[in-house]
Amino acid sequence: MKFNGSQNYVATQDLMLAVNAAMTLKRPLLVKGEPGTGKTMLAEEVAAAMGMPLLQWHIKSTTKAQQGLYEYDAVSRLRDSQMSMVAGSDTGERVKDIHNYIVKGVLWQAFTSEEPIALLIDEIDKADIEFPNDLLRELDRMEFYCYETRELIRAKQRPLVFITSNNEKELPDAFLRRCFFHYIKFPEADTMKQIVDVHFPGLKSELLSAAMKTFYDVRNLPGLKKKPSTSELLDWLKLLVAEDIPLEALQSTDNKVSVPPMVGALLKNEQDVTLFEKLVFMNQRNR
Ligand SMILES: Nc1ncnc2c1ncn2[C@@H]1O[C@H](COP(=O)(O)OP(=O)(O)OP(=O)(O)O)[C@@H](O)[C@H]1O
Ligand SMILES: [Mg+2]
Repeated sequence: MKFNGSQNYVATQDLMLAVNAAMTLKRPLLVKGEPGTGKTMLAEEVAAAMGMPLLQWHIKSTTKAQQGLYEYDAVSRLRDSQMSMVAGSDTGERVKDIHNYIVKGVLWQAFTSEEPIALLIDEIDKADIEFPNDLLRELDRMEFYCYETRELIRAKQRPLVFITSNNEKELPDAFLRRCFFHYIKFPEADTMKQIVDVHFPGLKSELLSAAMKTFYDVRNLPGLKKKPSTSELLDWLKLLVAEDIPLEALQSTDNKVSVPPMVGALLKNEQDVTLFEKLVFMNQRNR
């Protein structure tokens, strides 16, 4: 089975190659890229295109690797065992079987799935540094041991694993060795046009060209703290369409930058807005 892009997702040739290479190698695909460049959506779209269910694990700073395997709910078991002493209670049978208190994590679910399945470990760089190291064996051998029930959980078939990172932390070398890596480059104008077309089919081409020009002008401003990305352009276009902003508001007569309407969709902090306004002001004075 090969991934050839999907109707809702524009995948460049090298991204498709990377997905297929990871599938051939049977290794997790590690995807990096600026926020909003479609890393999370890639996993959703590949899974949908391959007809596989997708299990998602969104990582937070407090997430531990063990939570992805399983957790033993000792508190419930203790409570049930106390309850079973009470006359008329029916928790006695339940307490005897420890399996009733094992809460399965996403890896357990993925490993024991009967059908081929995709697994997304989203934003792995949010967790602490031990997190990727703790998952080495599980992702490599696709197995782990549950000490409480004394069973080895081994993948019936290797899930298709996607791992995304925003590069907030470096990942350990031993972890990187086990992955196939792809960096989603910021889309060039042609690709961006296709992406916009997926979301806003039939958008007037003059409006699109003017908006794209403003967008890339803003992005290329030197010294921006946070460059707007794909999802910000899409938000901005949505506003332009909803508010029926005329084309003239985006086009400056002398080919110089002007403050675009709804700039809050593109620039997300006050320094960037100030920087941008200063530039526009200077441009106007130099006329
Ligand atoms: N190649 C693409 N084709 C279609 N839509 C895209 C593409 N890239 C980005 N988008 C749009 O951008 C939005 C953001 O994408 P997504 O949430 O996958 O980004 P991300 O890289 O996971 O960002 P973050 O790092 O902030 O989680 C998507 O909902 C989608 O609408
Ligand atoms: Mg994401």
